[in-house]
Amino acid sequence: MAKYLRLPGLIDPHVHLRDPSATHKEDFETGTQAALAGGYTTVIDMPNNPVPTLTKAALKDKINRAKHRVYCDVGFYFGSTGENIKEFKKIINKVFGIKVYMNITTGMLVVGDDGKLDTIFKHWPRTRRMFVHAEGNTLAKAIELATLYKKRLHVCHVVLKEEIEMIRDTKKRGMDITCEVSCHNLFLDKTNAKKLGPFGLMKPGLGTKIDRQSLWGNLDFIDYIGSDHAPHTKEEKLSGNPPFGVPGLETTLPLLLTAVSEKRLTMDRLIKLTCTRPREILGILYDKETYTEVDQNIKYEIRNTDLFTKCGWSPFAGMNVKGKIVRVVLRGKTVFDGEKIIGLPKGKVIFPPN
Ligand code: DOR
Ligand code: ZN
Ligand code: ZN
Repeated sequence: MAKYLRLPGLIDPHVHLRDPSATHKEDFETGTQAALAGGYTTVIDMPNNPVPTLTKAALKDKINRAKHRVYCDVGFYFGSTGENIKEFKKIINKVFGIKVYMNITTGMLVVGDDGKLDTIFKHWPRTRRMFVHAEGNTLAKAIELATLYKKRLHVCHVVLKEEIEMIRDTKKRGMDITCEVSCHNLFLDKTNAKKLGPFGLMKPGLGTKIDRQSLWGNLDFIDYIGSDHAPHTKEEKLSGNPPFGVPGLETTLPLLLTAVSEKRLTMDRLIKLTCTRPREILGILYDKETYTEVDQNIKYEIRNTDLFTKCGWSPFAGMNVKGKIVRVVLRGKTVFDGEKIIGLPKGKVIFPPN
């Protein structure tokens, strides 16, 4: 029997690499190294940097900065505050979708006013999905607008029991709606919040134990798992006004492998949630020469000092996991050997199919 299990290259459809303009938190090099160390060979990056991705020029700049610096493949989302509708047509072939922030969170991209939201939903081309940050009541609003304008909707980081139930019911009614759960919402809840302090603060915030159980109970209706890798420095987190977000690229797969070892998740489901469904939803091609090997028997403790992310901490530090990434291969080349990154950056900037 083979010692290692080979998984197709994992895709994280929800990361914040912070490049350009918040590179003291993370940058294209460190973020994509963290991705490889976590077993991911493709990540899709969010637009909410201090200099946000709202124009063709900003997107072009981001793409140019990423080229030759990324260790895994990277794609991008566009952003909108409702004032850049004219840009949509110019960038539609270069992005995997648009991210619409309907609630307060990190960054300046929150669209609160109904008029602007309406404009965005109306004008975003139907060829690409709309990815919403919609917590609680705003989720119903997002579903309403997507129904009205016949757009395909993806709900990011679902946390609450009511939210996953609303999505389940909407799917059952036949709407083209997909959703994602952040790994931290499967493994942490409000009972962990006190101990974590600012290091457990993110948007949406941690749910109750009941919310967490309802996510596990509704795996059939969850399309994929994203990390919502949102690094902030320790200093920022310990300041009086901590920003929202936690890193997650290096901990998702070990946590999911641990759940498999505990029989809370099947390996088939893990592969579906981290590769197959993201690939289908985003339109990313399968490459048999791109894969991740794991040793399902290695037990280890997650430690801040072992991480590649620039922020250097994890809300899961101190947790014991079973299942370790031992090798990552990108287009036939070993790029991570279980300990270190091998060679120069070999990632590509990727675009959706037309
Ligand atoms: O906690 C969060 N952090 N939620 C978001 O929606 C944004 C993210 C960030 O960029 O830090
Ligand atoms: Zn969000
Ligand atoms: Zn996010």
